[in-house]
Amino acid sequence: MKNDFVSYLFLVNKERVLQHLYFGKSVADFDAFSFTNLGFDWSKTYLSKTGEEKQYEDGYYHDRSLLEVPSFGYGDERGALIIARQAQGSSKTLFLYSSHRIYDGLPKSKTLPSFKNAGSAKTLEIVLEDEAKGLKLVLSFSLIDGFAGIIRGQKLIATKETDVLRAYSLAFDLPSSDYKLTHFSGDWSYERRLIEEKIEPGTKVLGNTTGRSSHEENPFFFLSEPGSEEENGEVYGFSFLYSGSWKGEINVAKFNSTRILLGINDSSFSYRLMPKEEMELPFALLCHSSSGFGPLSRNLHDFERNHIISFPSSYLAHPILINSWEACFMDFDTAKLLTFAKEARMMGTDLFVLDDGWFGERNDDTSSLGDWYVNTKKVDMEKLISYVHESGMKFGLWFEPEMVNPKSVLFKEHPEFALANLEEEPDLSRHQLQLDLANPKVINYLYDAIENILSKFDIDYVKWDHNRSRGTAYSPYLKNEKEGELEYRNTMGYYELLSRLTSKHQNILFEGCASGGGRYDLGELFYTPQIWCSDETDPVQRLFIQYSTSYAYPLVSMGTHISKNPIMDYASKGEIALFGTYGLELDPTKLSEKEKEEIRKTMDAYRRLSPLIAEGDLYRLRNPYHDNSFCLLVINKAKSQGVFLYVNLLKENARYRYVKLRGLKKDTQYTLSGYERSLSGEYLMNVGINLYGWQNEFQSHYIELQEVAK
Ligand code: GLA
Repeated sequence: MKNDFVSYLFLVNKERVLQHLYFGKSVADFDAFSFTNLGFDWSKTYLSKTGEEKQYEDGYYHDRSLLEVPSFGYGDERGALIIARQAQGSSKTLFLYSSHRIYDGLPKSKTLPSFKNAGSAKTLEIVLEDEAKGLKLVLSFSLIDGFAGIIRGQKLIATKETDVLRAYSLAFDLPSSDYKLTHFSGDWSYERRLIEEKIEPGTKVLGNTTGRSSHEENPFFFLSEPGSEEENGEVYGFSFLYSGSWKGEINVAKFNSTRILLGINDSSFSYRLMPKEEMELPFALLCHSSSGFGPLSRNLHDFERNHIISFPSSYLAHPILINSWEACFMDFDTAKLLTFAKEARMMGTDLFVLDDGWFGERNDDTSSLGDWYVNTKKVDMEKLISYVHESGMKFGLWFEPEMVNPKSVLFKEHPEFALANLEEEPDLSRHQLQLDLANPKVINYLYDAIENILSKFDIDYVKWDHNRSRGTAYSPYLKNEKEGELEYRNTMGYYELLSRLTSKHQNILFEGCASGGGRYDLGELFYTPQIWCSDETDPVQRLFIQYSTSYAYPLVSMGTHISKNPIMDYASKGEIALFGTYGLELDPTKLSEKEKEEIRKTMDAYRRLSPLIAEGDLYRLRNPYHDNSFCLLVINKAKSQGVFLYVNLLKENARYRYVKLRGLKKDTQYTLSGYERSLSGEYLMNVGINLYGWQNEFQSHYIELQEVAK
C-alpha cells in the first residue's frame, strides 16, 4: 500500500504468515527477497499425524522474520500480538492468512473512538485465522492521502469459548536496532516530560495500569535513527486511540531487529469471548518522517485536526475561558459568582466555567461525587446562567462522572456501584472511589443524572474530570470470574457514556481533564477536542509541558490557562498561554489595573491569532529540554502570518545569538511586531532573529509576523 508519503509493504508467505517488509518513505518497488528472513533456520515442526518432520518453506521460521502478527508459543521471544487459550489445547496462538478485501473509507467501530471524514481513505482488510482455535483476527490497514502514516485496526471473532490473555493492537518490526526512543513520562503537575534514551538489547516496557492513559506515561512514543533532530533523520511515531491502561514494548532481539508492540495493558487482562462474539481492539497509528520530528508532528497535527478532533460549530472561534477553580476553589455563593462573572466579562472573557463544588453537599473534596444535582444552598444556577448569558458569555460546568465519594447519597443507596470490594477495605484517593462502568446500570444512572442537568439548564460547555487512578479495583458486576475484563469494559463503559452524551449535545464543548493532563490521548480527543493540559500553572513548568505535548497533539487541543503564579508577569504568562486554547484560572476581582491591562493585551492577541494557532503549522525552534530556552513559531498554511515566542530560562551573560525561523516564503517580506523594518523570509530563515537583550531569567520575546502586501 502506498500514498505520496509512505509505503507499507508486507507479503503472505507460503506458510500463509504475514511477513512485514517495509514501512517508510514512499517507494515505487521493493526487492522482497533481499529482506524476508533475518537469519538461517534449522528449526522443524513435528507433524504428529504422519510422523514427519516439516521444514518451513523458504527458510521461514517464526522467530527470525519481520512479522505483522507475531505468534505465541512458537519460539518467537520478541513478543506476541495476541495470546488466546481454550478449554482444550495449549495457548499457542498463530494466525494465518485466510482472505482479504480492499474498500474505500475507514473502518468503523461500534464501541471505540475512531475517525471522522474518511476523505480519500482506502482500507485493506485481511482475515486471518488460528485454525486450531477457530479464532479469527480481522486486521485492517488504512491509508489517507496527505497522511504519512497508517491506521491499524483489529477485531477478534471467536467460534468457540476462548480466553484472550493478550490483545495488543499493533506489532511492528524494524530490521535493525540502532534507534533512539523518545517517550513522555511524568506525574501529576509534571506531565509528558520528554525522555530520550538509546534502545539496548532486551525489552523496554512503557505504559501504566492506572485505568487512564495516565500522567505516568503518555500513549505515544518515537523511535528515530541516530542523529535525528527536529528537521532531519528518519523517525517513526506510535500512537494509540485508547484512554485506559496501555502498554508499549520495544524489544531488541538476537538478530538485532526491533519489535514494537502497543496495546491494552495485559498485566491483569483476560477476556472471555463466547462463540460468535466479536471484540474490537482500539486503533493504533504508525507515523513516519524521513526529515525529523518537526514534519512528523506537523503532519500528525493535520491528520488529528481533520480526522479525530472536532469542535462544535459555535466553538470554532475558540472563546476565551475563565475558570473558577484556582480563583475560589469550592468557596463560593451566588453573589460571589455573579461579581466574578461581571468582572470577567468586563475584562473580555467569553466563557464562564463553574468548576468543582456546585452539587450535592460539596464544600470540600470529601463528599458528594455521584450526587449530580445543584446545591441550591450555594448556587442559584438559573440566576447565574441567565446572568452569564445576558452579559454575552457562554456558561460551563464541571463534572467528575466516573467517581463516587463514600460520603454521598449515591454510595448510600448503591454501594454496589463502586468499583471496589467493600469487604477488603479498598484504598481511597482524594476521598473517592471509581464507579463500576462495566455495569450498564451505572452508565444509565450517570447518563440520566448528567442529562438531567444538561437538559434542565442552558449549558454550553462541560469540563469532564477524572481525579483518581484505579488502584485496587474490583468490579462487583463482573465478579471474580471476569475480573480480567475490568480494564477493557470500564474503558468501553466510559466511551459509551461519553458518546451518548456528546452525540445528544453536539453544541456543547466537552473538555477532557484528569487531575490536569492525566488522560491526554487520541481516544479522549475523539470525544473531547480540548484537554486541560496540566494542573501545573507555573508558566515555566507549563512551557515544558506544552512543548513536549506538541510532539503528539496539536496546540488547539491544549487547554492553556494563566494563573496568579508570580514567577512571571501577566504579559509573559499570557504569551505562553497563547500557544494553546487560552484561558484564565484566576479571580479577576483581585487584579490590579496594570495586571488587567497586561492580560487584555494577550486576550486581544488571542482573538486575532486563534485561527492561526488552531490551524497553523508548528515549528519547534528551541527545545527547553536541551537548551536554556524555549522557542515556538506557528505559521498559517498560506505562510502569510505567523506568531513567534522565545522564552529564556536561566539568565545568561548577554550572548549574541540568533534563532533561525522556518516555514516562511523565501521571497516575501514580513513585518515583525516591535520592529521598524520588514525582513524577508530568506533573511529570517537564514540569518534569523537576533536575541541579544532577551536573555534575562524568564524573559520572553514575542513577535507577530505578517506578510507585506505586494
Ligand atoms: C482537578 C482538575 C482541576 C480542578 C479540580 C477540581 O484537579 O485538574 O482543574 O477541576 O480537579 O476538583
